[in-house]
Amino acid sequence: MSKRVGILTGCGQGIGLAITKNLLSNNKDYHIVGISKSTNSELDSLKKLYKERFLFFESRIEDSEKILEILDVVQKRHGAINFGICNAGIRSRLSISDSSLEVYRNVFEINTISNINIAKKLITISLENRSACNILFVSSIVGTRGFDELSTYAVSKSALDGFMRSAAVEYAKDSIQLNCLAPGFVESSYAENFKENRNDLYEWTLDQTPMGRWGKCEEMANIASFLISEQNSYMTGTTIYSDGGWTAK
Ligand SMILES: NC(=O)c1ccc[n+]([C@@H]2O[C@H](COP(=O)([O-])OP(=O)(O)OC[C@H]3O[C@@H](n4cnc5c(N)ncnc54)[C@H](OP(=O)(O)O)[C@@H]3O)[C@@H](O)[C@H]2O)c1
Repeated sequence: MSKRVGILTGCGQGIGLAITKNLLSNNKDYHIVGISKSTNSELDSLKKLYKERFLFFESRIEDSEKILEILDVVQKRHGAINFGICNAGIRSRLSISDSSLEVYRNVFEINTISNINIAKKLITISLENRSACNILFVSSIVGTRGFDELSTYAVSKSALDGFMRSAAVEYAKDSIQLNCLAPGFVESSYAENFKENRNDLYEWTLDQTPMGRWGKCEEMANIASFLISEQNSYMTGTTIYSDGGWTAK
């Protein structure tokens, strides 16, 4: 296989960290550029272990100018960028009455606008280089299902799904593919806190999930790894659910 270069946001913890490890350990031709809010010991180990193939930039995704500069650096260094995984995101758990417009704006800025900024730049680079690009957004089942206290998050993820479908159609003939991965409840960094402080809700999610358990970050990473690979050569404009059967009900 020839060299394959990709960027991945939110690589410091949870699903993003699992995807980073999966891609680096299973594909010796993959070069990953990770972008995340802060660094940590796990990332330091990956930088040491994969010196030649893992580059890390500390940045918030909503710092749109800095993100564009980072992508310019990656383009200069590697030429084409073959895939992008827009994974970083935040959640706010508040009733609609308690969610100010400022909260809606903030969640939308991070979960939606920042990812549109990255996708637009990847599309531009891809068109300039006449190279294929496979873009994956990490969305959520909350983008298409109603939940109490998650309306700000729902708005941001459903808008991302909408952007993904439009861009997939607009650039299908340019070998640019876009898809969403929509996880159900996954044991990422917030799981322990959630189990402890919202045990009633945690039990309810187990009850609602046909498989009776939360997903693992590694299970999300396996799917993401296929979706951005060359093997995924015909799927575009699709949202893939990985939710233990939640959305099948
Ligand atoms: N876990 C779930 O149950 C679940 C379900 C459905 C969808 N998702 C989606 O999956 C994605 C990953 O979630 P997760 O549960 O793995 O989250 P997580 O454990 O909280 O990890 C998120 C990662 O993104 C980074 N990050 C957060 N905000 C950022 C920002 N503004 N700019 C740059 N980096 C930022 C964090 O940086 P730090 O390390 O510095 O904190 C962290 O490394 C999100 O888009 C989320 O909406 C998760």
